[in-house]
Amino acid sequence: MRILISYFTGTGNTERLSLLLAKRLEELGCAVDISKIGKDFTPVLSYDALVIAYPVHAFNSPRPVLDFARKLPDAQIPLYIMQVSGEPLSLNKSAVLSLARILRRKGYGIKGYFWYVMPYNIIFRHPDGMASRMLRTADSRINGDARIIFSLSEHRWKVGIIARIVSSALKVEHPAALFIGRGFSVGDSCIGCGLCARVCPIGNIKMEKGRPVFGNDCTICMGCSFNCPEDAIRTGILNGWRVNGPYDFTADEAADEDICRYCRRSYLEYFSK
Ligand SMILES: Cc1cc2nc3c(=O)[nH]c(=O)nc-3n(C[C@H](O)[C@H](O)[C@H](O)COP(=O)(O)O)c2cc1C
Repeated sequence: MRILISYFTGTGNTERLSLLLAKRLEELGCAVDISKIGKDFTPVLSYDALVIAYPVHAFNSPRPVLDFARKLPDAQIPLYIMQVSGEPLSLNKSAVLSLARILRRKGYGIKGYFWYVMPYNIIFRHPDGMASRMLRTADSRINGDARIIFSLSEHRWKVGIIARIVSSALKVEHPAALFIGRGFSVGDSCIGCGLCARVCPIGNIKMEKGRPVFGNDCTICMGCSFNCPEDAIRTGILNGWRVNGPYDFTADEAADEDICRYCRRSYLEYFSK
């Protein structure tokens, strides 16, 4: 069985889980190819199943993922959608809707959805212990989900009316991101290493005279500011929500009582499923 995993990632969480899924599928005997949405475009017609993976942005899929889906040829290939969010809020379930709609119209058999929670890359920083626990939980879920894909079984969820309304209203994030991205800039602590330009998933940052220049196509994935080794990138009106620096996924896992009170119930439910 040949499977293509196409993923979009801002700060690496979706990439990490896509690679784990690929490994599990290979252990089951599948031949797996991986491509990055925004940078590569792999022809899909020779695959027995496709997986499209992305981080949830404002209860929707990011714009480059929808653009990618619109460019796919019509085909009747079984397809799974994998989404990665920062919170286990059930409103996030709506993030599959637009992508599924585009692909269903093109003939793809939307077989299933998968959802994993990984550390936040905007608004606030999870403690490293939470990051470790999230990764371990996702890894064990991916084990079972790989078998669902391998057997081409169905795994979909229903989306409630409130989630549909919220997600629909927040589609404004797509045009807003273009506007917000124009406010990104770099401070004096920039060392001109060019990492921001290399990690930008859509090539929106160019280095000129040793300084990053931000283009007009930003999707506010936060990859540039998250990865900057000097925390030199200012993210316009989102600057107060900036999260900088990689998580340590090898830290000791957070205990139940370490989970912040506001989110504890939904994270505990997620961790125990
Ligand atoms: C612009 C933006 C919007 C986001 N919106 C949501 C959201 O609606 N729900 C959620 O749970 N997480 C949200 N997140 C958090 C990411 O989905 C989460 O951190 C994810 O693990 C990032 O994956 P990545 O590292 O592959 O980019 C948002 C992140 C960004 C940058």
